[in-house]
Amino acid sequence: MRFEGRVVVVTGASRGIGREVAVRFGAEGALVACLATTLANAEATASLIPGARAYACDVGDSAQVEAVFSQVEADLGVVQILVNNAGVTRDTLLLRMKDDDWDRVLTVNLRGAFLCTRAVTKGMMKARWGRVVNVTSIVGLGGAAGQANYAASKAGLIGLTKSVAKELGARGVTCNAVAPGFIETDMTADLPAEFRDQVVKTAPLGRLGTPGDIAGAVLFLASEEAAYVTGQTLVVDGGLTL
Ligand SMILES: NC(=O)c1ccc[n+]([C@@H]2O[C@H](COP(=O)([O-])OP(=O)(O)OC[C@H]3O[C@@H](n4cnc5c(N)ncnc54)[C@H](O)[C@@H]3O)[C@@H](O)[C@H]2O)c1
Repeated sequence: MRFEGRVVVVTGASRGIGREVAVRFGAEGALVACLATTLANAEATASLIPGARAYACDVGDSAQVEAVFSQVEADLGVVQILVNNAGVTRDTLLLRMKDDDWDRVLTVNLRGAFLCTRAVTKGMMKARWGRVVNVTSIVGLGGAAGQANYAASKAGLIGLTKSVAKELGARGVTCNAVAPGFIETDMTADLPAEFRDQVVKTAPLGRLGTPGDIAGAVLFLASEEAAYVTGQTLVVDGGLTL
């Protein structure tokens, strides 16, 4: 019960990694606010967690973010832990990438994390305690053909992580990132079988990752055990990028 009574916000909590993170926090006693693009999807996850609340929020929309975080604070109290997990892909080669493909991915993945982090900053600074964990990607570290928009957003998230760590460290707030490799969720469901086989062959741990593998790292970075860790990006990829 590492998070007994802690107020935790998880974005993109409706499925995949976000849902697993929310459920694990709930299992360790946290008061979890599940944010998703639709209320029904947020409620589906919240219904799995005792005491959890559900909120509809497009993280790229600053008015929605401000309204939802005020509501979370009114319902549960000051946010102590924020997990910026919401993310989208719009993969295509550079020559075919539309302005909107670029803008949407940067808006959700990077601007969304900025808006949510800004929304919790005052409360965390006042409390002199806080944890922000950003879900980036190994693609943000190494790049990927066909993912210029996604890679740029995830690399940006690493810069945001380091800057927030430097800016808020003196107030007892840490900010770290987790960089998943290939994790079995809806996001990767359509990738070709040869690509999956290649990952299994190349990764020293010989398998794809699960949402639970990522949740374990996120909870560690949000815990007291990680009190002296900040500005870091923890790669959780089964050794794929070694
Ligand atoms: N699956 C992987 O292999 C992998 C690898 C590296 C990084 N990641 C990252 O992990 C995070 C979770 O991905 P996943 O694999 O669980 O994918 P997923 O597609 O299953 O889940 C993404 C979540 O983000 C939510 N979301 C999308 N747009 C949103 C918006 N505008 N506002 C609020 N929520 C929004 C979705 O509703 C969903 O709940 C993402 O940031 C993704 O980039 C995933």
